[in-house]
Amino acid sequence: MSNRIWLSLGLIGLIVTTSAFATDVGSKLDRQLCSVCHGAGGTTSSELFPQLAGQPAPYFIAQMKAFRDKSRSEENAKRFMWGISSRLTDDDIEQLAAFYEVQAPIHLGKISDQVKYAQGKEIFTNGHPEKGVPPCMACHGEKGEGKEATPRLGGQHEAYLKRQLKVFYGNERPAATTMHEVVKGLSENDIEAIAQYLQAQ
Ligand code: HEC
Ligand code: HEC
Repeated sequence: MSNRIWLSLGLIGLIVTTSAFATDVGSKLDRQLCSVCHGAGGTTSSELFPQLAGQPAPYFIAQMKAFRDKSRSEENAKRFMWGISSRLTDDDIEQLAAFYEVQAPIHLGKISDQVKYAQGKEIFTNGHPEKGVPPCMACHGEKGEGKEATPRLGGQHEAYLKRQLKVFYGNERPAATTMHEVVKGLSENDIEAIAQYLQAQ
């Protein structure tokens, strides 16, 4: 092989090693502390735990800090996330955020009720103008992929989505001021429909 080929192979090796390093620490923390509940790489088929894969880093960081300073305080946050987040430094949180942001989300594709799915799609795309509900898509993205401080919703578990939408009626997630307004015009049936639609994205 010519020297030039050896040189390019060396360069590729170097690039691969440096970019892998950026998520190495996050990957290790994921394996040691988080995957037992959230699944390896933040994807799990268990309804109990939210998907973390593909979650935008700024949203992820804000939530981890809100668990750590105990300002996000719904029942399951207290039970499952307050303790573990108190053991993490700002740097750990940033490394985890960088790791999960680039993990491929799983698409569960489960549609159990076609009528609800269609209703959910309608609200997600167009909102409920007569009830003052804005289109979710405007902030959460066309497929619910999320962006920056706005979370990914596509592929998230139905049970988790329903729980959180109900949490927004109270004040256990005080940072979510926009969502407190959004849920005012949503009925129980709307919430079920939206969750059904989003889980299948
Ligand atoms: C013992 C189980 C358990 C462990 C371990 C755990 N989590 Fe969680 N986590 C949960 C549960 C349950 C929720 C959902 C809380 C709720 O529904 O209010 C959650 C919620 C979250 C959320 C909020 C998701 C969102 O969309 O807002 C993030 C972020 C998170 N966990 C990250 C982590 C990270 C990072 C670790 C490892 C350092 C970790 N979790 C370890 C159970 C766990
Ligand atoms: C004006 C922008 C905006 C609109 C419109 C909006 N959202 Fe949100 N949503 C947000 C932001 C920002 C957050 C993160 C709140 C936080 O920091 O806790 C959020 C959080 C959420 C969460 C919590 C996700 C998680 O992982 O815990 C759900 C569920 C949600 N929104 C659903 C909806 C639905 C359904 C609609 C439409 C009916 C909607 N949103 C409309 C901005 C918006």
